[in-house]
Amino acid sequence: MNKIICYLVLIFPFFGFSQELITNVPNRNTTSLNGKWNYIIDPYETGYYSFHLDAFDQQKDFQKSAFFNNYHPQNKQELVEYDFDKSPTMTIPGDWNSQKENLFYYEGTVWFKKSFDYDLKENKRLFVYFGAINYKAEVYLNGIKLGIHEGGFTPFNFEISSIIKEKDNFLVVKVDNTRRKEAVPTINTDWFNYGGITRDVLLVEEPKSFIQDYFVQLKKGDKNTISGFVKINNFDKTSEFVTIKIPELKINYKGKINAEGIVSFEITNKKIEYWSPETPKLYEVLISFKDQTLKDNIGFRTIETNDSKIVLNGKPVFLRGISIHEENAKGGRANSEADALRLLTWAKELGCNYVRLAHYPHNENMVRLADKIGLMVWEEIPVYWTVDFTSPETYKNAENQLIEMITRDKNRCATIIWSMANETPISDARNTFINNLNAKARTLDDTRLISAALLTKSEGLHSYVDDPIAEKLDIVAFNEYLGWYGGNLDDAEKIKWTSKYNKPVVVSEFGGGAKQGLHGEINERWTEEYQEYLYIQNLKMIEKIPNISGLSPWILVDFRSPRRMLPGIQDGYNRKGLLSNDGNKKKAFFVLQEFYNQKTKQN
Ligand code: GCU
Repeated sequence: MNKIICYLVLIFPFFGFSQELITNVPNRNTTSLNGKWNYIIDPYETGYYSFHLDAFDQQKDFQKSAFFNNYHPQNKQELVEYDFDKSPTMTIPGDWNSQKENLFYYEGTVWFKKSFDYDLKENKRLFVYFGAINYKAEVYLNGIKLGIHEGGFTPFNFEISSIIKEKDNFLVVKVDNTRRKEAVPTINTDWFNYGGITRDVLLVEEPKSFIQDYFVQLKKGDKNTISGFVKINNFDKTSEFVTIKIPELKINYKGKINAEGIVSFEITNKKIEYWSPETPKLYEVLISFKDQTLKDNIGFRTIETNDSKIVLNGKPVFLRGISIHEENAKGGRANSEADALRLLTWAKELGCNYVRLAHYPHNENMVRLADKIGLMVWEEIPVYWTVDFTSPETYKNAENQLIEMITRDKNRCATIIWSMANETPISDARNTFINNLNAKARTLDDTRLISAALLTKSEGLHSYVDDPIAEKLDIVAFNEYLGWYGGNLDDAEKIKWTSKYNKPVVVSEFGGGAKQGLHGEINERWTEEYQEYLYIQNLKMIEKIPNISGLSPWILVDFRSPRRMLPGIQDGYNRKGLLSNDGNKKKAFFVLQEFYNQKTKQN
């Protein structure tokens, strides 16, 4: 029996979510701008600044030399020193490093231009949506600046209704992937700094007043109540109601929109089939406002902790996981459904029910596929190693990436953990920084678990976590590298772990490198036998850790890293994968597979 309760009072802090971000773009009325874009490499930012470093887009008068004006000489005398249409092209979405040999290690500015026609009807609005651009994007349409976005792994959009023309629009994007101390991530990471327009570019056409965002998940701790909100952009009061239909559950809810264009709701239903990795049930959800209906596939599950247990749908669950970087088979930034399928199929083959998407929000295809095929997900923002914790701008930037990640994926039931950071050094500034992110995440979404990958301490054969931010986290997760960065693998079973936190423990990383196909003694680094033994020993140790509730070994596939240059072994790759970058399994793959097999049998 459906009991419908409509709360007009504000329940959710709607102002916390990204004000502009349009969600569920894959199911909207879109036109793709993917494909070949012209590009101009601009290491000296000649298309952006005058020779006295005055930014052209700050100048009142028209600047021919400004690349965003896409200016062409009007006669044979006129001096213009760039021409997008005569410039080379590359495929978007796609990083420039793996597409152009001369840009492999390039870090700096590259300009992109796409020309297109668009017939926008009177009663419609138009937005340009970017799945992600690494790292800093400055976007112009027909010479007008739309805005700036910082952060390489989250989506953003700009409205272009008043700028769009029927013919010959030119969209120009200045992309700068220069690593900076104050940025997020900062200058040092152990992954490849792929630059470019790395995810889809879409034109999103909407009615004048439209459904911009919504949150439809189970209420915290209540498996019979679906709750959330629907947010109308430019609510013009011409219609006062939103309907939410979930046909399979015979839900047909009608809610009154408040003055802010928001409906918040709670719908009780006792017939829900809960989503789990074994039964990844998704429901078709139809949200309607006036003559717009937005479809989405949403699953419902509860996730919580109970003392030292992680509890899914009321039952303790062990997270059989693996860590993954967002790379494709060509050694470039992954972005497609096929890329996601390649990676998540291997995770399933390992026997995983969980994946850690490291160290930044991966593309939406990844999370939606995890929903579909049944994999729980840890999502993380790139607050990695030595971010500048003392800088308010850096905090604002990190918080904005957190907001965009949660805004985009809050309806994905696969995502069970939001991670605030990875391997960050303890300090007062850092503690405050991460505790603030943690608090922000909880105001946005109190239905999921909050964690971070912490560092550990060891005295002899005693290892433990002692980190002030762990007090405020739901899961104590840490990275340990017994047998690779320290310790003796033969001691594995003698090592005693203690945890002063009555919370679930997850080993978010352990691992060691192996060159696939290189064989030798178990104590010979870089051989598959060494990595195999390292897994055998670490798993023995991990099984005995108090409150152990899961793990995500480092890492599924070898991945590019400019920190890894050992000739004949690494050659620019971190070799801790259980598969080589060209997809060949290493011996350790089968050790973990067997371990998960046993775990599954135990459940
Ligand atoms: C760290 C870090 C990873 C890195 C890994 C390694 O723990 O979190 O990003 O790649 O160790 O050293 O291989």
